[in-house]
Amino acid sequence: MKPTNVRLRDDGRAVVIQDQTVLPSQTLFLELETPETMHEAIHALRVRGAPAIGIMAAYSYAVMANRSEEKDADSLLESLSSFADYLNSSRPTAVNLSWALARMEKVAAEHAGDSVDQIKKALTAEATLIQEEDVSMCRRIAAHGLTLIKDGDGILTHCNTGPLATSLYGTAVGPIFLAKEKGWDLKVFADETRPLLQGARLTSYELDQAGIDVTLICDNMAATVMSKGWVQACFVGCDRVAANGDVANKIGTNGVAILAKHYGIPFYVLGPTSTIDFDCKSGEEIEIELRDPEEIKSKWYAEPMAPASVKCYNPAFDVTNHDLIAGIVTEHGVLRAPYTESIAALKKTIESEA
Ligand code: MRU
Repeated sequence: MKPTNVRLRDDGRAVVIQDQTVLPSQTLFLELETPETMHEAIHALRVRGAPAIGIMAAYSYAVMANRSEEKDADSLLESLSSFADYLNSSRPTAVNLSWALARMEKVAAEHAGDSVDQIKKALTAEATLIQEEDVSMCRRIAAHGLTLIKDGDGILTHCNTGPLATSLYGTAVGPIFLAKEKGWDLKVFADETRPLLQGARLTSYELDQAGIDVTLICDNMAATVMSKGWVQACFVGCDRVAANGDVANKIGTNGVAILAKHYGIPFYVLGPTSTIDFDCKSGEEIEIELRDPEEIKSKWYAEPMAPASVKCYNPAFDVTNHDLIAGIVTEHGVLRAPYTESIAALKKTIESEA
């Protein structure tokens, strides 16, 4: 199976994305050919979810190379570098965006002595590889995550971490898809995830389509379902993991972790190693995106639900402290506390494999 949420058009001159803002009522694909439409697609969350943003950024970089009319390598690399800076400014929190662009920049630099055509080919191959690696990482994350739960369990998840947010399988819901393949009967509680409703519009849609038992709840109902004993584990994704195990993820994640601790439920974070920012010491260093107040006041309503003059605070992410996290599941296995040590050891493993 191949990912359909983000792909390169056959001629290599456009990124094709599924527009996540119109789901679940419409299935719409957009062909992006210009820096402005690529930037807008990330900022407006047409493509969203940390790994999917990284994949889309890599393909965008390759597309800009393929569309370039520069005749010499130096000018091509210079224009691509400006493009990378521009695209990197579209959203600040998910590290996969800068990670994927840096990887593309590195490949471009390694081919600086080659012809323009050779550079274009190398960049297209690298972007394709980033997506293929994500498919394999998600599959491995799913397998490791499955070892943490058993048939019949109730799982609470937040935001959207499925195939739409990644390549295939997803991260936090990967084990749930894998469990379904094995014939397990899990019961999933999906937080609706105010204010942009990724849980309602995307997670409940993806799980329902796959025939998985999913119950949608408002974010403020998580304590109730936990108190009833219906949740045996919380699985969430991540947008940036600091070197000490602090995790930035969709706003509301920290609240879920605090509730899980109160009710004695293990809280797991699942994501590829591309979401770990080894240079970021703790959650305090993570920049949190602030978004338009209209997302709270009027976006999903026929009429505004708050006075036009009222102030709103709309952070898109929060940071969960490492001491609330029972495990961080990557493609390399389950990291446990103390995270400063387990994350440093993982960094060594990755470096020795490179
Ligand atoms: O603002 P979004 O929708 O891009 O936020 C996405 C999340 O917070 C996800 O939980 C996270 O990126 C993990 S995606 C596999």
